[in-house]
Amino acid sequence: MKIFAVESSCDETAVAIVEDGRKVLTDCIASQVELHKLYGGVVPEIASRKHIEAIYGLADQALANTGLGRCDIDAVAVTYAPGLIGAVLVGVNFAKAAALALDVPLIPVHHIRGHIAANYLAYPDLEPPFLCLVVSGGHSLIVDVEDYTKFHILGTTRDDAAGECFDKIARLLGMPYPGGAALDRMAQTGDDQKYPMPHTKLSGNPLDMSFSGLKTAAINLIHNAEQKGEALDIPSLCASFSLAVSDMLVPRTMEALEMTGRKKLAIAGGVAANSRIRGDFQREAAKRGVQLYMPPLKLCGDNGAMIGAQGYYEYLAGVRAGQDLNAYATMAIDATEP
Ligand code: KG4
Ligand code: ZN
Repeated sequence: MKIFAVESSCDETAVAIVEDGRKVLTDCIASQVELHKLYGGVVPEIASRKHIEAIYGLADQALANTGLGRCDIDAVAVTYAPGLIGAVLVGVNFAKAAALALDVPLIPVHHIRGHIAANYLAYPDLEPPFLCLVVSGGHSLIVDVEDYTKFHILGTTRDDAAGECFDKIARLLGMPYPGGAALDRMAQTGDDQKYPMPHTKLSGNPLDMSFSGLKTAAINLIHNAEQKGEALDIPSLCASFSLAVSDMLVPRTMEALEMTGRKKLAIAGGVAANSRIRGDFQREAAKRGVQLYMPPLKLCGDNGAMIGAQGYYEYLAGVRAGQDLNAYATMAIDATEP
């Protein structure tokens, strides 16, 4: 079954064609990052307009890349939540029109479910149940993936998302938006012990996370150094910060594995591309004999293929949308309806 998938929830317009949820036939992305860099972050109005400009061309490109005709498409899948509402609406409206014109089913896909499904593309043998840590620009959560369309949230951030913090600190250090990857590169040559970061203690759910204290500590450190005219060792600050973020994520995920008894662990989302976090997971998973799944970097960030993968399993579960499908800025991953 060939699914034509559309993603437009943030600053990437993406169209992919995916076969049977596992095989990427084409994955076309038009990134708006260069444009938003000028403003240090995503400007929602600009994002929506750029999605409109890019989406038709990408759809044609996807068909041309595969040599498929419109009549070869069996269904259309689209991100309908969560995301920047104006941006998501562009994809939803395009997908509705495409499904109507092609006379094929329309499948609504939750963006974070899509991030998890990127693992199905990278690992054809991976099947639920497994545990997944999702860390992106807007989300940080530990999820028990009980089945392809059945999720149970075990822990979540109480404040900022991990990616948001990486971007904020990177921006303060003068790196262009989105700074996460640049900060990661800078950290490679630094000493992660040079600037010890606070370890936030949280009451309540031991699997919940918090990044705001860490973010504030790093901001204060940078401002204090500026005021005193002291030069900071930027690579070491980046390495110390990355270590602290990893320390917030990795031990909790390991605890979640122990609590659930799951033996398979996946990671997903843009921040799953972080080399420090990947390395720490590799080491800890090997220690415990846990099978670790980490998508290649290009499948960690937003893309259309992951929506096509999840769309297939939503389709098998009977999920369909009509022409009244709406877009939603927020929606829990385990919600069955908006
Ligand atoms: O999943 P994603 O592409 O978009 C959202 O759904 O949010 O995630 C984007 C986030 C940004 O905050 C970006 O800075 C971060 O992922 N990111 C990284 C790295 N690569 C991307 N953060 C840390 N290290 C990286 N290597
Ligand atoms: Zn995303």
